[in-house]
Amino acid sequence: QEVSARLKRDFSRGLGKHSHHKAPVKMLPTFVRATPDGTEKGDFLALDLGGTNFRVLHVRVVEEQQKVLKMDSQICAIPQDMMLGTGEQLFDHIAACLSDFLVSQDLKGQTLPLGFTFSFPCEQKEIDKSILIRWTKGFNCSGVEGKDVVKLLKEAIHRRGDYDIGSVAMVNDTVGTMMSCGYRDQSCEIGMIIGTGTNACYMEEMKNVKRVEGEDGRMCINTEWGGFGDDGSLKDIQTEFDRVVDKMSINTGVHTFEKMISGMYLGEIVRLVLVKLTEDKLLFKGQSSEALKTPGRFETKFISEIEEQDNGLENAQNILTKLGLKWELVDSRVVRLVCDTISSRSARLCAAALATIANRIRVNRGLDHLKTTVGVDGTVYRKHPNFSDELKATVRLLAPECDITFLVSEDGSGKGAAMVTAVAHESPFCLCMCTRGNAIKY
Ligand code: BGC
Repeated sequence: QEVSARLKRDFSRGLGKHSHHKAPVKMLPTFVRATPDGTEKGDFLALDLGGTNFRVLHVRVVEEQQKVLKMDSQICAIPQDMMLGTGEQLFDHIAACLSDFLVSQDLKGQTLPLGFTFSFPCEQKEIDKSILIRWTKGFNCSGVEGKDVVKLLKEAIHRRGDYDIGSVAMVNDTVGTMMSCGYRDQSCEIGMIIGTGTNACYMEEMKNVKRVEGEDGRMCINTEWGGFGDDGSLKDIQTEFDRVVDKMSINTGVHTFEKMISGMYLGEIVRLVLVKLTEDKLLFKGQSSEALKTPGRFETKFISEIEEQDNGLENAQNILTKLGLKWELVDSRVVRLVCDTISSRSARLCAAALATIANRIRVNRGLDHLKTTVGVDGTVYRKHPNFSDELKATVRLLAPECDITFLVSEDGSGKGAAMVTAVAHESPFCLCMCTRGNAIKY
């Protein structure tokens, strides 16, 4: 409740005209003003960049007996050195992958609209102009922060000169997830990711979005809740292990909340706890191993394996053996307890944040009871055996007046980016009507 109360205050600061500059939770306007109504149609390209893989998609929204989304997609790896190289290298690689894909789909002569899911905090100026605020999740390509990412993509495509793209709609992965789930369930007005990173977006009343002109209707806000705590507001609940994780990361001091929750960091938190327990002679008779002492060697996926209902203990023992540790039964039980503690904390913190959004939407609309749907994606949510149950149970406690349905996104956020393009493309009236003075181009 305390965490939720602090986040509630930070939401207001992020939305405020004069307070947003310094707000740790950025509450970024997305210029997405409508969720899908199911009538969208057309042919789109979509790019999805946000983790170690990058996906290129061709999405066709056709109406046969019922609405159908048809998709072809291709995955391109982003090598580790490219994540830390120059922006030009990164965007050239993206443009090259898209080119190969267009050839394979026989689409090279066409100029299709493109939805670009870019899962990093961006200050969106228009739907096709988006300035990267900062890299997260292990990316740190030079020359991109402070620049318009859509422009960098277009420049890379023009440098090649072998194909062109139509209008671009840029979205965060949370927005893509909300939109792709919104196509199936029209009451979906929250999008949440708990994967490598964590974040959520939701439909906010325009009258509360003080940074964008206009009072009518709603706009999707990308909360960037990963930055919660960056002003020190979570210091009292951060542990010594959280502080080490932050210090050793490539973005020390930022994305505090994300570092306590998301897949990029959970394994490392567990490793640090195990190291400490070993040093204190509470595990493995005080005998550590090289692997246990090496950052990154305890992978987040081990947590899911160790917490499995039936085979968890056996999995723990196999993992400990692979890490070169000599264990006894009690050691494997303690390791399991550590994993459970860290993943539970993550689920509960996430629940506190989600409850803050649900309660906010309910109060915004003056309702005693809110029924709503959250579109969810991310490996932690999908793969961990009891993360989602714990999250749901805690949300029920913290937002008792909200009845929340959780819908796991089927095809990821790339499809949602195509939906945004479709909503923007097919409903010029809606966008123009709502955007007075915001220079939306559709
Ligand atoms: C980014 C968000 C993104 C989230 C989930 C965070 O690191 O800042 O923009 O939505 O990861 O991918």
